[in-house]
Amino acid sequence: MKTILKVVPIAAALALSGMASAADFEKQVEARQAYMEVLGYNMGILGAMARGKMDYDADLASAAANNLKYAAMMNNGSMWPAGSDMDALGDKTEAKADLWKNFSQAAGYLDDLKKGSETLASAAGNGLDELRKNIGAVGDACGGCHKKFKED
Ligand code: HEC
Repeated sequence: MKTILKVVPIAAALALSGMASAADFEKQVEARQAYMEVLGYNMGILGAMARGKMDYDADLASAAANNLKYAAMMNNGSMWPAGSDMDALGDKTEAKADLWKNFSQAAGYLDDLKKGSETLASAAGNGLDELRKNIGAVGDACGGCHKKFKED
């Protein structure tokens, strides 16, 4: 019994590490893009209100800004595996290879997003002016990273 119990976990671990190939790799890129979609969805609501394209709604603004804050707090490190850039994957991704050569700069934009969305989350429900005043820092974090590391 004891030997079997020892052997099984090792076999399972080998199977798991073997699985971290093509299928998982694709999932990582899909998760990254889905993560970005969630950011874009919430930013879209806030941007539409800030530009007067959507009526300001304190509850909705607060919810969307908090979603950004919580999303920014999520550790998304595993969604950026080396070799998942557009040079390697072609049209499956819009992530430039430069991102991996300047990883600390990319991480810096994520940090800016964390700080900006935290401030926005506490302000967005306090009126349209507060939303407008604090959305810029978040937009700069998204836009800064996209300009450098994302294909248009
Ligand atoms: C760390 C850099 C970085 C930050 C910060 C960032 N993005 Fe992105 N974003 C990317 C990259 C790289 C891609 C391309 C991902 C891919 O195709 O694999 C992307 C893709 C996207 C996409 C397209 C997703 C799709 O369907 O493929 C949207 C929408 C998006 N980002 C919105 C946002 C918004 C909104 C923010 C800020 C709240 C933001 N991003 C912050 C780097 C970033």
